[in-house]
Amino acid sequence: MRDAFPPGLERAWRASWPQLRSLEATVRLGGVGRAAQALHLAQPTVSTQLKELAASLGLVLFEPHGRGLAPTAVAELLAQTVRDMAARWQQFEEDAAALQGLRRGRLRIAAVTTTEYFLPDLLGPFARGYPGIRIDLAVENRDAVVARLERGDDELAVMMRPPAHLPLARWPFLDNPLVMIAPADHALASRRRLRLQDLTDEPLLVREKGSGTRAVVSEVLAERGVTWAPRMALGSNEAIKHAVRAGLGVAVLSRHTLAADPATEGLVVLPVTGFPVRRQWFLVWRQDRALSLPARTLLDDLRQRLGVRVRPG
Ligand code: PGA
Repeated sequence: MRDAFPPGLERAWRASWPQLRSLEATVRLGGVGRAAQALHLAQPTVSTQLKELAASLGLVLFEPHGRGLAPTAVAELLAQTVRDMAARWQQFEEDAAALQGLRRGRLRIAAVTTTEYFLPDLLGPFARGYPGIRIDLAVENRDAVVARLERGDDELAVMMRPPAHLPLARWPFLDNPLVMIAPADHALASRRRLRLQDLTDEPLLVREKGSGTRAVVSEVLAERGVTWAPRMALGSNEAIKHAVRAGLGVAVLSRHTLAADPATEGLVVLPVTGFPVRRQWFLVWRQDRALSLPARTLLDDLRQRLGVRVRPG
C-alpha cells in the first residue's frame, strides 16, 4: 500500500471495530456467550465476527482447551491492544469536546471596583485567544461581589477580602498596597515621615459602605488605636481621587488606582509610617461547584503568565 499512514498497519485496516470489540469482550469475560450478552448481540454474530477477524488477520485467536476454547496468547495481546486503543480514543473524545467547549461559551466573572485598573490587562490575552467566549464581567463593590458569590452568579471573582463563610478556593496573584493620598501641593507632602496621628486633623474621605477598601481603612485605624472619623463617603475610587485633588481631604486607596506618577493626576502619596498597608488580590471560586472549561482555561492562562500556583482553601 503506497502512502499508507502509519506504515506497517496494513493488517489493522482489515479488522473492524465491532470485531475487535467482540474479541476484547470474549477474552475478558471468558466466553462467546457472555460476550454476546454483554454486547447485546446474538451469539452466532459474535462467533462469526471472531472467525472473520482471525481470517483477516491471519492469526489463531482461540484454541481447544478442555471441553471448550481458550484465547491464545496473541488473542490476549490483541485484547489488551484494543483496550489501549479505546483509552486513546476516549482521550480524543475529551479533547474534541474541549475544543468545542472553547469555541463558544460564556464566562461570568465578578470583580471589585478597584480591579478595573488592572483586570482588562489580565484578561486581555485570554479574551483575544478565545474570541468565541463571551466574558461577562460584573464590577461591583466588595459586599455586592460577596452576595454574587453566595448566590453562585459567577464562576470566578477577583477581590482583596474573600469572605470566610463560603467554601472558596483562593489564589493570591497580585500585591495590593494601599496608600494615603493627598493633593500634590499639600503642606504635609514635603515631610519625610508622618505618623497616622499627624493626619487626624485632615478631613478623611472614604469609600461607600460595602467597599473592601473602606473596611481596610477601619481595620487599620482600629489596629493602630487611632480615632479618625471619616468626613465624607464617596461611591468610587475616581470620585475620591477627584475630591482629594480638589482639596476636600485625604484618603486611603489601592496604589493600583493611581497613575505611575501620581503627580500627573495632581496627587501625592504621603510617607505615612506603616504604609503602604499590604494586602493582596485574590482570584476565588467556589470549591463546591465544578469550574467550566473556559474558567479552567483562564486560570491556566493566568497561572502560566503570572507564574503562580493555586493554593486551595
Ligand atoms: P472595593 O474592593 O473597595 O472596590 O470594594 C476591595 C475589596 O476587594 O474588598
